[in-house]
Amino acid sequence: AQQGDSEGRAPVVTVMGHVDHGKTSLLDYIRSSRVASGESGGITQHIGAYHVDTDNGMVTFLDTPGHAAFTAMRARGASVTDIVILVVAADDGVMPQTEEAVQHAKAAGVPLVVAVNKIDKEQADPDRVKNELAALDVIPEEWGGENQFVNVSAKTGQGIDDLLDAVLLQSEILELTAVPNAPAQGVVVESRLDKGRGPVATVLVQNGTLRKGDIVLAGLHYGRVRAMLDENGKPIDSAGPAIPVEIQGLDGTPNAGDEFTMVSNEKKAREVALFRQGKYRDVKLARQQK
Ligand code: GTP
Ligand code: NA
Ligand code: MG
Repeated sequence: AQQGDSEGRAPVVTVMGHVDHGKTSLLDYIRSSRVASGESGGITQHIGAYHVDTDNGMVTFLDTPGHAAFTAMRARGASVTDIVILVVAADDGVMPQTEEAVQHAKAAGVPLVVAVNKIDKEQADPDRVKNELAALDVIPEEWGGENQFVNVSAKTGQGIDDLLDAVLLQSEILELTAVPNAPAQGVVVESRLDKGRGPVATVLVQNGTLRKGDIVLAGLHYGRVRAMLDENGKPIDSAGPAIPVEIQGLDGTPNAGDEFTMVSNEKKAREVALFRQGKYRDVKLARQQK
């Protein structure tokens, strides 16, 4: 490809919904059912972003926690995403964080696909979910609206293939593209301080390609990418658009939702990071050291 050419890319799908309605379970099911057998036993830890191959193309998923403290992350999640899967437990119906997710998605202009989860439960009432969401102007297609509703169970796997089909159908309409041959830019999904490896951040590349050795700015932090792992913990050298990747080498842990950008000059990156941290005096000193 030529420098600057845009190409098709995978949809970035954020899974949102009320606490305990089954967001993580749904993602875990999708992931474990699509990881090559033999590998699946090795999945022990939950991660907030990964991509899967389906018969109809790749899909990248982001998980958002339902706890009230994560409102900001959910708001940002809705804006980095192409499609929201709204998870509503069929035995519980629309709850405060369901409404909040609807508002975020609408504000961001992102299409919603509704996963009516826990359909395996005896108390499941999918019609009630439809009615409650219709009251929020999320109207099922079969009622003349714009939203696909799919009954699923993260426990039994029922309906999950249909849910993926619904997402891919929605994605085709969007005709998503990105420019792989450009400096990397994207968003931080999560980060933590690892005892052995230091600051570790999962980032989603939105445009361009991130490579081992690149210098990046992420929120208040910067660093040279020392190592990159894919979502299965395998070392990789580069990640293109819509690919989530774990990076090591930052000088601290940025916040979920922070933007990251590749920069060409390490000194400049340090200055900007110090400036963002409010350490203006250190910026001055750094400049004097030139
Ligand atoms: P937060 O991230 O804490 O907001 O929760 P979550 O939405 O990720 O929900 P989680 O996947 O943690 O599931 C909450 C509980 O519901 C767990 O006990 C799951 O086992 C259960 N659960 C999730 N999906 C299903 C389902 O389809 N059927 C049944 N019966 N239980 C489910
Ligand atoms: Na939970
Ligand atoms: Mg969860």
